[in-house]
Amino acid sequence: MSALDPTAAEIRAAGSAAVEWVATYCEALRELPLYPDVSGARLRERFSEPLPQNGRPFDDLLARFRDDIVAGSRHNGHPRFFGYVSAPGTAVAALADLLASTLNANLTAWRSAPAPVEIERQTIDWIREALGCRPGWGGLFTSGGSLANFTALAAARHRHCGAVNETGMSAVARPLRIYISSEGHHSTDKAAALLGLGRENVVRIPVDGNLRLDARELERRIAADRAAARDPFCVVASAGTVVSGAIDPLPEIAAIARREGLWLHIDGCYGGFARLAPSARERFAGIELADSIALDPHKWLYLPADCGCLLYRDPQALGSAFALGADYTRIAQTDAREAFAFWDYGPELTRRFRALKVWMTVAHVGARALGEAIEANLDCARHLAELVAASDDFEMLAPVELSIFCFRHLGAGGRRATTRSEDEERRLDAWNERLLAALQHGASSYLSNATVAGRFALRGCVLNYRTTRRDMEILLDDLRREAANLNPEA
Ligand SMILES: Cc1ncc(COP(=O)(O)O)c(C=O)c1O
Repeated sequence: MSALDPTAAEIRAAGSAAVEWVATYCEALRELPLYPDVSGARLRERFSEPLPQNGRPFDDLLARFRDDIVAGSRHNGHPRFFGYVSAPGTAVAALADLLASTLNANLTAWRSAPAPVEIERQTIDWIREALGCRPGWGGLFTSGGSLANFTALAAARHRHCGAVNETGMSAVARPLRIYISSEGHHSTDKAAALLGLGRENVVRIPVDGNLRLDARELERRIAADRAAARDPFCVVASAGTVVSGAIDPLPEIAAIARREGLWLHIDGCYGGFARLAPSARERFAGIELADSIALDPHKWLYLPADCGCLLYRDPQALGSAFALGADYTRIAQTDAREAFAFWDYGPELTRRFRALKVWMTVAHVGARALGEAIEANLDCARHLAELVAASDDFEMLAPVELSIFCFRHLGAGGRRATTRSEDEERRLDAWNERLLAALQHGASSYLSNATVAGRFALRGCVLNYRTTRRDMEILLDDLRREAANLNPEA
């Protein structure tokens, strides 16, 4: 047997060793330093080698993975990794990925992978139900939220001006306008650029004191654009912004979109699955009024990357945006279920069996336990906010809406103040920036940064079923220790 085609015994031996590593890693995760002590030059030196002409045993490669790759990685599954919007990755999903790769199904169309396609459609239907949308919606998994947002905007553009797909943007007489809050994710700007709409036509709407889109201002901007011969066609509402977790006023925005004839897309990539948590459910009222919703199972369904998801109300709208008849993809099936092809609903042709890890995780854990885990994450973020409010050396910079918290340290000897001069504010910005770097270097807790109302914020996001209230206390202790070690004058 060759290295390309090992025997069953060889696969068993290699697989057992790999799975043994998975189990050991998951068990040890909490104790690992969560950021590696590496430099670009050292890593380059460690991995640089000419194209290997001869193969080497799997055991050697597993050892290199363990000793060099794992040791040179950030551990996103650590309970105090609070940076960005990052999931731990469930063990069952990791195993599902192994099974999916082994089956190597290609989910282009039903005829290419009948049962896997059915699993994707079933899993999408569970997600639709979790979000409270009516039966009849469609959906598909994507590489991530950015591609889900892109796909939705392509469909919105197509519904508004179908000729663009044939003749390009010359079919558009007036600039097409998209509206999103000033806090909305930049993947909308990227999609606008890629779709030929232009970033300048993404209109950023101001937010209120809770960092939610100001619906009155949205109406004003739409009216002003119409008066200036621009062409509004889409509004993107956020159901959990990336900086603070703010949920825009969805019912109000939906009413405006309906009245104005705009496609309503909701970016629920960070927040959407929090609808499973009883204490957050109410806040998502109105999400079911959207034309499309982007979600990220690789965020709050805790799955390993990559897996985004797009739900859409009207399968016809997406089907006509992406369908393309080519002889080599002709479908012979006449039964509607069997004639189904995912390539009609998104930009990808070859598609991985991403659905398996979603299906296995949801079926293995159950929606109730997932909701409880999300609820515990919300509780951790609220606990952090309470600790900060009760302290005299930290202050919150934004309300905790879901599981994101933005706050800052008040500096050596700093204290709360109702007003600060711009100079004092700048000093606090710089101090917190240094503190963040020290915290990340210390590798016991990890935060990322954000700008809230022009100020530098320490930003964290609880998105891990391993995180406890105690971890939030350790985070503040870690910050206090780093602050004590920092020279305030430096
Ligand atoms: C609100 C929001 N939208 C979109 C995205 C982009 O998702 P992805 O990184 O999966 O492309 C993110 C990522 O954090 C996000 O928080």
